[in-house]
Amino acid sequence: MKSFLFVSDLDNTLVGESRTLAILNKKLKQHREEHGTKIVYATGRSPLLFAELQNEQELLEPDALVASVGTEIYFKGSDTSDRTWSAKLSSGWNRDTIVAATARFADLVMQPDSEQRPYKVSFWLRGDSAQEVLPQLKSLLQQQGLDAKLIYSAGVDLDILPRHGDKGLAVQYLRSLWEIDAMQTVVCGDSGNDISLFSYNEERGIIVGNAKSELLQWHNDNPANYHYLAQAFCAGGILEGLNHFGFIE
Ligand code: GLC
Ligand code: MG
Repeated sequence: MKSFLFVSDLDNTLVGESRTLAILNKKLKQHREEHGTKIVYATGRSPLLFAELQNEQELLEPDALVASVGTEIYFKGSDTSDRTWSAKLSSGWNRDTIVAATARFADLVMQPDSEQRPYKVSFWLRGDSAQEVLPQLKSLLQQQGLDAKLIYSAGVDLDILPRHGDKGLAVQYLRSLWEIDAMQTVVCGDSGNDISLFSYNEERGIIVGNAKSELLQWHNDNPANYHYLAQAFCAGGILEGLNHFGFIE
């Protein structure tokens, strides 16, 4: 068995089914000890909400935490986010102007303060308004010369991010830093903010069986033989996919 880079979303991907999570944790922990496999969590959560999840769940300590939808990277042992990464995000990003532009959309409901981050502005937006609001917001931001990216997940969460930030780009950055091939990397997800994980390169991808419609739709529109749609849910689906790709037995 060879070392690999394991990257997983948390909510409804790694976390959601405690029985299979315990099995997966055991295998990953052993793989890390024996082969130097690296473990990365790529979550939409802020560091604060990640800490809450850590208190509620049995989670291994990751080698790096990609937080706030890829806009912050924390290496093991450090509680400040990686500066090289934030420097890459700042070009063309004007947070205050973005917040001001969103004010004219009554359907956008600000998420709690903890989820408003230097390189992430987040709202709740109902699925039935999204179809109308998202294209309008996109063109307004463009008109104002704001180089931002809209990511809509699970029919409720809207994140506005810098052009150069998302989970997938954060993983490209980690891979180049650690010199790990896309083919020795596996990414796992369930919803819209995970699409970027599957998008930039040929990382092996696991879509868990309980994935949301936007990710399933994307997978349908962008078929690739290095993406695996699992039957099982959450950590059970990850175990199934890791077996499929031969990363673990
Ligand atoms: C997490 C974050 C939230 C974000 C969502 C989707 O729930 O806390 O801010 O909108 O992920 O990315
Ligand atoms: Mg998720």
